[in-house]
Amino acid sequence: AAGDADKGEKVFKKCQACHQVGDDARSTPTGPVLNDIIGRTAGTVEGFKYSAAMTEAGEEGMVWNDEHLHEYLADPKGYVPKNRMAFAGLKKEEDRDDVIAYLEQFSDP
Ligand code: HEM
Repeated sequence: AAGDADKGEKVFKKCQACHQVGDDARSTPTGPVLNDIIGRTAGTVEGFKYSAAMTEAGEEGMVWNDEHLHEYLADPKGYVPKNRMAFAGLKKEEDRDDVIAYLEQFSDP
């Protein structure tokens, strides 16, 4: 993405209440781990209890890439209706670019 990963680290503070990423990151009951999110089929972290909606998105073939992440983070409930991520989304395109660039550092696409 065209984003700035350093700025994305700051944006990620909004995600940290629920998600971990990086060394020793793991899923918690509040959110699935986001290591290796790029290229991962939606709803497939072992041991995390996803909504039916997110599991079905993966079963229908959604693999997280730049474009899907952009759409999902802009409007989580609009893009994956009935998913259970309690987050309103990132209104600014720049924030989405930056946080995706940050997440890419912990993925091996
Ligand atoms: C799911 C990213 C904020 C809770 C996801 C997924 C991504 C993501 C990519 C899909 C994971 C997968 O398919 O394995 C982000 C980012 C955030 C953010 C980048 C900040 C900009 C939050 C917050 C919460 C949260 C603040 C809690 C209040 C969850 C939960 C799921 C999820 C519970 C699973 C949803 C389901 O099973 O329906 N998030 N998230 N996230 N996130 Fe977030």
